[in-house]
Amino acid sequence: MIHKFDVVIVGAGGAGLRAAVEIPKEYSTAVISKVFPTRSHTGTAQGGVCAALSNEEEDSWLNHAFDTVKGSDYLGDQDAIEIMCKDAPRAIIELEHMGMPFSRTKEGKIAQRKFGGHTKPVDPNDPNSKRIPVKRSCYSADRTGHVMLQTLYENCIKNNIMFFSEFFLTDLIIEDGICKGLTVFDMATSEIHVFQAKAVMFATGGYGRAFRITSNAHVGTGDGCAMVYQAGLPLEDMEFYQFHPTGLWRLGILVSEAARGEGGILRNNANEPFMEVYAPSVKDLAPRDLVSRAIISEIRAGRGILGSDGTHYINLDLTHLGKKIIDEKIPEITGFARTYLGVEPTKECVPIQPTAHYAMGGIPTNYDTEVFADTKGNVVNGFYAAGECACVSVHGANRLGTNSLLDIVVFGRRGGKRIAEYLPKAKHHEFKIDPTERTRSKINELLARTGSEKVAVIRRELQQSMMDKCGIFRNEKDLLENKEHIKEYKQRYKNITVQDKSKVFNTDLIEAIELGNLLDIAESVNESALNRHESRGAHTREDFPKRDDVNWMKHTFITKNDNGSTNIDYKKVIKTQFEPMERKY
Ligand code: FUM
Repeated sequence: MIHKFDVVIVGAGGAGLRAAVEIPKEYSTAVISKVFPTRSHTGTAQGGVCAALSNEEEDSWLNHAFDTVKGSDYLGDQDAIEIMCKDAPRAIIELEHMGMPFSRTKEGKIAQRKFGGHTKPVDPNDPNSKRIPVKRSCYSADRTGHVMLQTLYENCIKNNIMFFSEFFLTDLIIEDGICKGLTVFDMATSEIHVFQAKAVMFATGGYGRAFRITSNAHVGTGDGCAMVYQAGLPLEDMEFYQFHPTGLWRLGILVSEAARGEGGILRNNANEPFMEVYAPSVKDLAPRDLVSRAIISEIRAGRGILGSDGTHYINLDLTHLGKKIIDEKIPEITGFARTYLGVEPTKECVPIQPTAHYAMGGIPTNYDTEVFADTKGNVVNGFYAAGECACVSVHGANRLGTNSLLDIVVFGRRGGKRIAEYLPKAKHHEFKIDPTERTRSKINELLARTGSEKVAVIRRELQQSMMDKCGIFRNEKDLLENKEHIKEYKQRYKNITVQDKSKVFNTDLIEAIELGNLLDIAESVNESALNRHESRGAHTREDFPKRDDVNWMKHTFITKNDNGSTNIDYKKVIKTQFEPMERKY
């Protein structure tokens, strides 16, 4: 079946929906999603969306930009960061007007809380002043992403956006440097649909499922990024993958940083609040890369708490917060602790461990979401990307908490606006190759495999290897071993059997395609990590422990060649007003 739309957006999380709302009503817009839209991964974001609103204490967009640049370990592009931080207060008020139910202060203003790495100077007139945590993250209890997603979905319905739910992305059609559309697989029927569009936006989310312990939903298999990589286009800064410090032990389910924003404290096996050693000024409210490293360092030093299965965890102590704060401000995550670990957070510490959470890298774009074809700034006509799958780059080497919900609404809107400017002069393009046939032959080839390998087994081994060898701490030996493992998994992948041959909700087939995507993503992450000989943000090389601004203040662009090998190129980091300095907290 062939559909013709002016705009097709893949992904119904916050970025995709915010972009869709922005397309003028005279144009036809389709949103394609592999789950029902309100089940998109944005719905799991908990702690907040930041903006220097100054509702609870004095703040400024410049403070926010300074923190974001410093948090990014000076790899974020400062022009894009300035745009995001300046636009943040407007974006929040706009969400409020769209109907988003924020928590409130006593005066009825949007409530704000502290989050890691968000600070203000004690003396605003002294550039070297000590900085202390500031309340910058606007929140709805610990369900901020959930209510944002519902609000944006309602606004899309109001704007007559057409949704294709449980449609799985199978091919991106780029011919002669022009994005002409895509193919998708209807999960309910196995029918292949072709979408011809003047503009295509990917808002396909991240790829936490490449790691064994992750906060990401099962949908987080990096399909959009993988498709771009498979099309021979670059991916940017893939080595920078964020581990959130506090996932529920062994499960990885997110325990929001809001818990520490409200006063929670990390403790080791001697009950010591160890973060004051690693970040004397901001302690438990240090940025995530630093806190995750601190947790693993404590465990490596024998100060973790031994769990029933022989693995170690760290305690998150909320007991001093009291029932009222816990029930009103962090009900969801404390509920998770009760349900999944049988722990009562008002009386007992919550066992946590770092969990694979967020991709700083992804599909390279300019700050209007146009996708870069190369490091020189050439764009792919008609192709846009926003949200976690994209790399603008506002997060650089390490994202600050609550900057992701901000990123999706700021750049989702900018992408929608840029598409709206492009549409009057844009047209539909004819396909040179029949896209249905191309997708069908790919799927038939997969279904025809008769080997003895199982998708679930390869996926589990891949996730473990990525966790152990390409996680928070990395070194050449581990990365080389991981590279060999990924090569081996790719070989074994050729030898899988998709046992279910039926046409109705063939999740066996979908998981096989997703594994192919995860393998490509893992390759791009590992190669980029192997290549970067320094430590910066979330990329910690034990064999290159220092940041090296002379040689490595640059973005990695990795591409896949036709013969399966990879190629790495670089792009300059954009600096405006923030001079790189040593990152101390
Ligand atoms: O900790 C959290 O609530 C997560 C927020 C984020 O990733 O921005």
